[in-house]
Amino acid sequence: MKKIAIFASGNGSNFQAMVESVKNGTLPVEIGLLVCDRPDAYAIKRANREGVPTYHFSPKDFSGKREYETRLLAILQEFGIEFIVLAGYMRLIGSTLLEAYEGKIVNIHPSLLPAFPGKDAIGQALAAGVDCTGVTVHFVDAGMDTGKVIAQQAIDILPGDTSETLQEKIQMVEHVLYPAVVKKLLSEKKETIQ
Ligand code: GRF
Repeated sequence: MKKIAIFASGNGSNFQAMVESVKNGTLPVEIGLLVCDRPDAYAIKRANREGVPTYHFSPKDFSGKREYETRLLAILQEFGIEFIVLAGYMRLIGSTLLEAYEGKIVNIHPSLLPAFPGKDAIGQALAAGVDCTGVTVHFVDAGMDTGKVIAQQAIDILPGDTSETLQEKIQMVEHVLYPAVVKKLLSEKKETIQ
């Protein structure tokens, strides 16, 4: 079974959805580590409750991204992590991790990329007055929500929707879509030509 790390910065509801999918047998992976850049994040409490090892750090304790990612890489290797799932991790991934895990880092974003990248994608969609937004799972590159799209699901914005109601609808979709996409990615067999 592939060993994955989940990176989160906040609530961790997508982390929880992955854990539940592993527990109910629909996601055949081992969640080997939760990485968190905010020592007080609720995601850490969830991991502790679920018996998932955690590594948390404060970027301000390091002189820069290269330094904390070098440390992170050592930890990921120590835990035998083969694949990285970003779930509400609020930092750009730098070259240290991108090179070590090329094509093996994915992210989920609450819009239909390339529309509304970056922070507050839900607020951006509401402010733009569009009648449809959604969820995107994509590979991670050096940009902000710019990597190759893997899967998308549209969600209608109805009259009367607020950022709270829309976030609720988006997260319901995320919690089903993300474990399913991770499962598919990790079970795809590479064809070998002899
Ligand atoms: C999700 O909506 C995800 O799309 C975005 O950050 C949010 C994280 O939520 N990248 P949670 O911490 O998993 O509850």
